[in-house]
Amino acid sequence: MANFVSSLKPSLAEATYESTDASRESRVHPEQNLLGQFIPLHYHFQMLQDKQRLEGFRRAIELHVKPGMHVVELGGGTGILSSFAARCGAEVTCVERNPELASFARSTLHANGLDQQVTVVEGDATEFIPSQPVDVVVCEMLHVALLREKQTSVLEAFKENYLQNWNEQLPRFIPEASRLMVQMIHHPFEFEGYYAPLPIFQAPDANANDGLIELSSLVDYAHIFYDEPISDTIRWRGRLRASANGFLSALRFVTQNFLSVESQCDSPTWPNQFLILPLQEPSPVLAGQEIDVEFSYRFGDPLESLHQSIRVEYLPVAEQKVH
Ligand SMILES: C[S@@+](CC[C@H](N)C(=O)[O-])C[C@H]1O[C@@H](n2cnc3c(N)ncnc32)[C@H](O)[C@@H]1O
Repeated sequence: MANFVSSLKPSLAEATYESTDASRESRVHPEQNLLGQFIPLHYHFQMLQDKQRLEGFRRAIELHVKPGMHVVELGGGTGILSSFAARCGAEVTCVERNPELASFARSTLHANGLDQQVTVVEGDATEFIPSQPVDVVVCEMLHVALLREKQTSVLEAFKENYLQNWNEQLPRFIPEASRLMVQMIHHPFEFEGYYAPLPIFQAPDANANDGLIELSSLVDYAHIFYDEPISDTIRWRGRLRASANGFLSALRFVTQNFLSVESQCDSPTWPNQFLILPLQEPSPVLAGQEIDVEFSYRFGDPLESLHQSIRVEYLPVAEQKVH
């Protein structure tokens, strides 16, 4: 797995990053930028139910956190990831902006006997400056395609603050990397006889009994390494090739998070929910036919930002070698 991930690194340069597009930003209502960040307490129950997420983070934390280390968690929520680090013997600072969550984390860590090892700081992680050097940073503000939540901007702010205040090398980050992919699919968007082409979230382990047909393999469009500088905007242009005849009605976005890339085998990973976005111009495609796809969005933007930016050009079949 480590080899696989290091082989991704050079291709970072292939993705085109751009600075903020002010004209597009002005079309986004400021409130939309808050969606996905003030996650109410009852939604955290769903996050606590996600066994693959918790097991992946627990394993990555157990791999890298040793007794006596100082661990910072950015966006601590209920405090569960901080508890994993505390149970490895670390001193933990858990930063959480939502007062309801910060208070819940404090009392819950106390109930678990971990309040001596974990200090909960109520505040904005982008402004947090640790009072001592940090060995490991845990940050789970991950959403498919890195939309909605502010994983990248929070980590960029943390890195800048940290390097300014501590003349140290950066800590290890958990997760270490995210792999962003896109695929052609057919989805019927049909619900009890009612046609409704709308964005759909799909659990990675869901049985595909909803009429979904994969029409191409997954193609990588970005590899994000959290210890490297990350731009806030991505613009991608690429070509997808149909692997079967079918009716192309949507693109599916898949994000795989590498929680630790160092262990040689069985590296802990966690996929976000898949995102299916209907196309403005659905069309039949033939096996071997290619389409040009273009989209751009800022990490942390609402879903609509990516959805509205998608452009698809169907290449003329006659000019292609259709198999
Ligand atoms: C996806 S939840 C993860 C919670 C917890 N780490 C877990 O894994 O269960 C992200 C958390 O980050 C918090 N958050 C978002 N932006 C933040 C910011 N700028 N500063 C501090 N906390 C933030 C949210 O309130 C939320 O509790």
